Amino acid sequence: MTAATNPTPQTSDDDWWRSAVVYQVYVRSFADANGDGVGDLQGIRQRLPYLRDLGVDALWLTPFYTSPQVDAGYDVADYRDVDPLFGSLPDFDAMITDAHALGLRIIVDLVPNHTSSRHPWFTAALAAGPGSAERERYLFAEGKGESGELPPNDWESIFGGPAWTRVADGQWYLHLFDPAQPDLNWRHPEVRAEFEDVLRFWLDRGVDGFRIDVAHGMIKAEGLPDVGFSSTTTGQRQSELLGKGRLPYFDQDEVHDIYRAWRPILDSYPGGRMAVAEAWAETPQRLARYIGPDELHQAFSFDFLDATWSADSFRKVIDTALAESTIVGAPTTWVLSNHDRQRHVTRYGDGEVGLRRARAAALLMLALPGCAYVYQGEELGLPEVLDLPDELRQDPAFLRTGESRDGCRVPIPWSGELAPYGFGPEGGELSWLPAPATWRALSVAAQTGVPGSTLELYRAALRIRHAHPALAGTTGGVTWLESEPGLLAFRRAAGDAELTCLVNLSGAEVTIDGYGQPIVASADLTEQGAGHVLPVDAAAWFERR
Ligand code: GLC
Repeated sequence: MTAATNPTPQTSDDDWWRSAVVYQVYVRSFADANGDGVGDLQGIRQRLPYLRDLGVDALWLTPFYTSPQVDAGYDVADYRDVDPLFGSLPDFDAMITDAHALGLRIIVDLVPNHTSSRHPWFTAALAAGPGSAERERYLFAEGKGESGELPPNDWESIFGGPAWTRVADGQWYLHLFDPAQPDLNWRHPEVRAEFEDVLRFWLDRGVDGFRIDVAHGMIKAEGLPDVGFSSTTTGQRQSELLGKGRLPYFDQDEVHDIYRAWRPILDSYPGGRMAVAEAWAETPQRLARYIGPDELHQAFSFDFLDATWSADSFRKVIDTALAESTIVGAPTTWVLSNHDRQRHVTRYGDGEVGLRRARAAALLMLALPGCAYVYQGEELGLPEVLDLPDELRQDPAFLRTGESRDGCRVPIPWSGELAPYGFGPEGGELSWLPAPATWRALSVAAQTGVPGSTLELYRAALRIRHAHPALAGTTGGVTWLESEPGLLAFRRAAGDAELTCLVNLSGAEVTIDGYGQPIVASADLTEQGAGHVLPVDAAAWFERR
């Protein structure tokens, strides 16, 4: 098999995000430079050459702002500073300068739906009392019942339990997540002005984009109407409607006004500054409303992440996502894993089967047009850590629901024989979550230069994606090819160059012929006559030029 050569990183053009590969850095678990057991900005800075060599275009950094860390930094107390746990503003500046010098762009996470309960605005709201101007920036309300002892409505927190907490003077405040994450009142002009200023603050520091946390949540239906059911009344949690149904606290039409105000700010900076929505909407059509020339550039397509391991399921979500993005003129995004969801090796069956499928899924994702998001560690084939001791789990949702996202947040193994496998400097603290002993064989050092390793598979695929004319362009859809059931086969083409991606989800090996030469495969192909045998749960790219 030969890999294409002459990679040309797509870094110089304003439309870079249309076809970029963005690597999600979960800051506290990526690399620990100061040896306290928690990842930091200096750690990222030291590992930038790894990311450049991997072949990604940009990094999305999860929140590193001043925070009590109740929800791993998604509870922000100061939007314009770095938490000492992760470093300082000068560390950030040094990191972004180095990243840009290496041709890597930086996307930061913006958390506008809620602040930390330690944010000065919330502290002031508590101190000022009912009816005060300070309380207007949040969603305080009187309770129901004879003495206001019941929450103002039936809304549930995504982390479980009621979305309301009562304060000492008797009023309640809304928190769609943890009680330490009070929701802001986005109908308040000061809230809007503040976040426009925060955008400018980071744009001035050189960031190339924003990932907008809970982008569908900022506006709540007027009058805060009941949902009509809750886990206590029906056993069904309201959050089960995420991405499937309407909720009065998500995806309200007025939320789009906010993005229409943000877009001119992004556009006023040079170099193609972008924003990607973490948004949940009832239908792909409603999700597409977040993207376009006057709103955000992208929205994560979680349907791809949620697709089951079948050709029909993938084909359906891919077709829908591509159709919607064509209508709005913005590219779609593809994502297989992130810091909130079980790692896809495990979702696809765990163990050897899960890894085979995850490797095939990587070739599927990286052959699609649009922008791909790679979650740190997926290039190593890391599985979910399922057996973390409960006392080590830190996800606030764990205490309220028993479900925990810690298993996908375990620090990255870099090298060496002993945990935490080069995550921190020698002699440093153990990592904040322990890496299992099996990860020694999955470390970056253990996989580098090893033919057939998952890391080398990602490197090869990313190299080809950048260099191959059929993949490198920002336009052009996919052409599905007729094939036997269970085989996904699509072609991308530019001029005379053609690349065909084949994914075998049929459960039996398939002989393939007539697509040209194989240039990368997730499992060994064997020659058969003029063609090749594609094993079960494997994918390959074939080219013709
Ligand atoms: C988003 C984040 C998640 C966080 C939540 C609240 O869904 O991805 O990690 O807990 O928002 O900010």
